Amino acid sequence: MRIAILGGTGKEGAGLGLRWAQAGHEIVIGSRDAGRAAAKAGELAAQAPGARVEGMSNRDAAAAADVVVLALPAAGLQQTLPEVKDGCRGKVVVSTVVPLTFGGGRLFTPPPQGSSAEEAQEILGPETRLVAAFHHIAAHELSATDHTIACDLLLCGGDAEARKTVAELGASMGLRAIDVGPLTNAGPLEGITAVLATVNRRYKLKNSGIQITGLGESHGR
Ligand SMILES: NC(=O)c1ccc[n+]([C@@H]2O[C@H](COP(=O)([O-])OP(=O)(O)OC[C@H]3O[C@@H](n4cnc5c(N)ncnc54)[C@H](OP(=O)(O)O)[C@@H]3O)[C@@H](O)[C@H]2O)c1
Repeated sequence: MRIAILGGTGKEGAGLGLRWAQAGHEIVIGSRDAGRAAAKAGELAAQAPGARVEGMSNRDAAAAADVVVLALPAAGLQQTLPEVKDGCRGKVVVSTVVPLTFGGGRLFTPPPQGSSAEEAQEILGPETRLVAAFHHIAAHELSATDHTIACDLLLCGGDAEARKTVAELGASMGLRAIDVGPLTNAGPLEGITAVLATVNRRYKLKNSGIQITGLGESHGR
């Protein structure tokens, strides 16, 4: 699979790119600055010998890929998504975005659509199949490739085939995927990250995560 990661110069996107490159996927790092994307792609390629990792502008990266991952701050969606809309048309787009505001009275600050994923779906339009996922997989865990990640991949979206594709992408980096249904559940999923960020601060961690109990052995753990 050829995966574009918009904002892939950041910690979360680079961590996803590294895990997927090591799993044998082709990675295209996207950035507002193609030179910055190329530099990050070089760093990741050095950590994943034999993998194909390229860097491009966000617009070119989206157009070049089979699946597009949004690894941008929530504040960057309104500016970035219109220019990548054509490149995302007909594709599975994965939103990792969490609308957090640090330093104010409220950490979780979702947009009027209810979640960053629904905001992205609205801007990209109905021809893009949006899946919300990876909000609970800390960048710190993604970059520590000496061990598997002990966290479930909770994902939701309006298209069952798209959810299956993202579950397979998660499985390729060793994550157990839990399908939590329609995109209207993206707000609650994104909100869990506000809880995890608070746990991290309270207990001086970088990598708290979440696992679902009760599914039994038949569901992979
Ligand atoms: N960090 C985590 O552990 C974690 C875990 C789960 C989910 N997430 C979510 O994943 C997303 C990325 O997280 P991150 O920690 O990697 O974020 P980040 O480092 O703050 O940003 C990622 C990249 O986005 C680009 N960017 C920054 N501001 C932008 C803007 N205003 N408009 C467009 N692009 C902008 C930058 O790339 P260029 O300057 O190269 O364009 C930056 O390298 C966030 O929504 C976050 O909530 C993060």
